[in-house]
Amino acid sequence: MTITPTPNPAEEATAAASGAAATEKFRSRQHTGSAMADTKRVDTLASEMLSAVHDIIRRHKVTYAEYDALKAWLIQVGLDGEWPLFLDVWVEHVVEEVANENRQGSKGTIEGPYYVPDSPSFTAIATLPMREDEPGTPLLFQGQVTSVDGTPLAGAKVEMWHADANGLYSQFAPGLPEWNLRGTVLTDDQGNFRIHTKEPAPYQIPTDGSCGKLIAAAGWHAWRPAHLHLKVSAPGHQLITTQLYFRGGSHVEDDIASAVKPELVLDPAPAASGTGNEVTYDFVLDRA
Ligand code: DHB
Ligand code: FE
Repeated sequence: MTITPTPNPAEEATAAASGAAATEKFRSRQHTGSAMADTKRVDTLASEMLSAVHDIIRRHKVTYAEYDALKAWLIQVGLDGEWPLFLDVWVEHVVEEVANENRQGSKGTIEGPYYVPDSPSFTAIATLPMREDEPGTPLLFQGQVTSVDGTPLAGAKVEMWHADANGLYSQFAPGLPEWNLRGTVLTDDQGNFRIHTKEPAPYQIPTDGSCGKLIAAAGWHAWRPAHLHLKVSAPGHQLITTQLYFRGGSHVEDDIASAVKPELVLDPAPAASGTGNEVTYDFVLDRA
């Protein structure tokens, strides 16, 4: 692999290295194949997917040159370790839509490739692990976790992870402390939590790998709006995986990953403490 020198170290850090790390993390968490034991189901899904591809080829009279370009590109996606990126950006949002269509409580959205379980745990008032000179605007993110009937959920788990002010995720970009801007916060006896962090920046999916090639070839852009990732769970309730965005931020209206929903857009205000911003967002969990 050749690495093109770049004057911006942050850009270099988001390169194919993060794709390889995402592939490794996914493989280490996944019990492959277990959901695919039903022959009838595999037959249906695989046959219909192939039919959809055949239809596109007929409708657009796809040439041998285009077929070979596709073959080369698909091979390269794997070599770059970018399958998690590709799938989470362009496919996961529909899987999430179907999975959560009957929920009454809080809206979910895609997990993306950068979740890591078992982040450091904190009681209800917490500051996410960060560097001494962590860049970015301070953000107080607070709220309450309740059940759909309004019962506060004490000891609920609020897992949060997000990019730093340069758009980089710890454990996927070099040079960041292992758990930077990742933490698990347990709610107090009223279901409340207060999390101090720094606002993330918009995130550009790696542009120097195969996903970037597709984006450039199709004339798309590579940006996701700035976002906070969350998983919220409590005993007897369904876990929700979601993301929250910042109103007026770049690419809230044209997220490359199609993961923004109106209910997920925050309106932070200047913090009462006088430092940075604060915002309140409550989570409502469906019963299991
Ligand atoms: C990708 C990155 C994200 O931070 C995210 O939330 C979703 C997808 C990606 O690079 O594929
Ligand atoms: Fe993300």
